[in-house]
Amino acid sequence: MIFSGALVFTALSLAPLATAHPGEVFNKRAHMEELADAHAVAEVNARALEACQNRPDVIERRERAIARRSATFERLRQERNLDDATFLHRRDAASLRKWAANKHDKSSLKYTKDTPISEIFGSNTSCILTPDNANGPYFVYQEMIRQNVVENIQGVPMHLELQFIDVNTCKPANVLIDIWSCNNQGVYSGVSAAGEGGLGTTYLRGVQPTDKDGVVNFETLFPGHYQGRATHQHIIAHVGSKILDNGTYTGGVVAHLSQLFFDQTLIDTIEGTAPYNTNRIAKTSNMVDGFTGYAASPKYDPFPNYVMLGNGLSNGLFVWAEMGINTSSNWDYYAPFASTWKAGGGYNNPKFNMMVVASPPPSHG
Ligand SMILES: *[C@@H]1O[C@H](CO)[C@@H](O)[C@H](O)[C@H]1NC(C)=O
Ligand SMILES: *[C@@H]1O[C@H](CO)[C@@H](O)[C@H](O)[C@H]1NC(C)=O
Ligand SMILES: *[C@@H]1O[C@H](CO)[C@@H](O)[C@H](O)[C@H]1NC(C)=O
Repeated sequence: MIFSGALVFTALSLAPLATAHPGEVFNKRAHMEELADAHAVAEVNARALEACQNRPDVIERRERAIARRSATFERLRQERNLDDATFLHRRDAASLRKWAANKHDKSSLKYTKDTPISEIFGSNTSCILTPDNANGPYFVYQEMIRQNVVENIQGVPMHLELQFIDVNTCKPANVLIDIWSCNNQGVYSGVSAAGEGGLGTTYLRGVQPTDKDGVVNFETLFPGHYQGRATHQHIIAHVGSKILDNGTYTGGVVAHLSQLFFDQTLIDTIEGTAPYNTNRIAKTSNMVDGFTGYAASPKYDPFPNYVMLGNGLSNGLFVWAEMGINTSSNWDYYAPFASTWKAGGGYNNPKFNMMVVASPPPSHG
């Protein structure tokens, strides 16, 4: 699958139809073409993964994933003294809506602590693929290797468990996973652009190496929203990076970059609570957002699974997804970094300019 350089140049050189925030350029036609390509990449990845679904090591890994997620879920509940509380799962959207309307109606909850774990954690997650769609704004290079990225920010706690499988081998990917998202007011840390958090801030950003099952865990917060975009969580997978003694990393190639989206009912419920509900920026639903349109294929699903840890949002969410990525891909071209986290703080990338295309992009698998 070849990404056309001309296509991308067009995307960036025409006047944008709508600007989400500084640096994020949106041209509908070029964007749809780009998504069509991303879609095709995801189809190829999905087929590659499907071909090995019955392999003994893949079946075993799936079983380990169910046990692991269940154990993480139980641990998170114990840590919060929620052992006996009911909880909610994304497949139970009707209940969630009902729950949102009447927080005390626990009888409306379908999933309880007696629900078999395979029913909750055993969905066909191997098919959940997030396409390598182009998104660059506000990536900060060399962020800190850390699991907890919350710092002193308020919001709904979100334990994020992401599993990465290399579509070339169907084996766990050995990558560094970089996450970032905006806070409850739609503000990103780490960048100097007007209205953002500033170079000296690092909240809701962090990096983790995958374990032997290709898994990373983060303690973060459910993202807020900003102008023109539905609520989303950024992810980058770096291949071949070196972890440094000072708790950062250097080098490597961006083999995957994407955004996770969330069920609209979950977003709406969370946006109705403090401090999210003090954000005056108009909301953009998943249906309207230009990046969620590609979710139409049953081959992939950019909406992660989730359960609420307890019967209140303040108890937080356990969110998980399994993603097939091609570790031989090189998406550096689509991952310009706005700044770098270095000794002494953040530094602007002098070459960062979303409107300028310096060199043609490489080909992608
Ligand atoms: C997972 O996919 C396989 C093969 O497509 C199918 O047989 C099975 O029923 C699916 N399981 C679930 C839980 O959806
Ligand atoms: C970590 O070490 C690298 C290599 O020496 C250096 O470039 C970078 O500025 C350091 N980062 C921090 C946050 O100290
Ligand atoms: C992964 O990307 C490489 C490099 O572009 C390509 O040769 C390979 O065919 C891709 N693998 C799959 C399963 O698409």
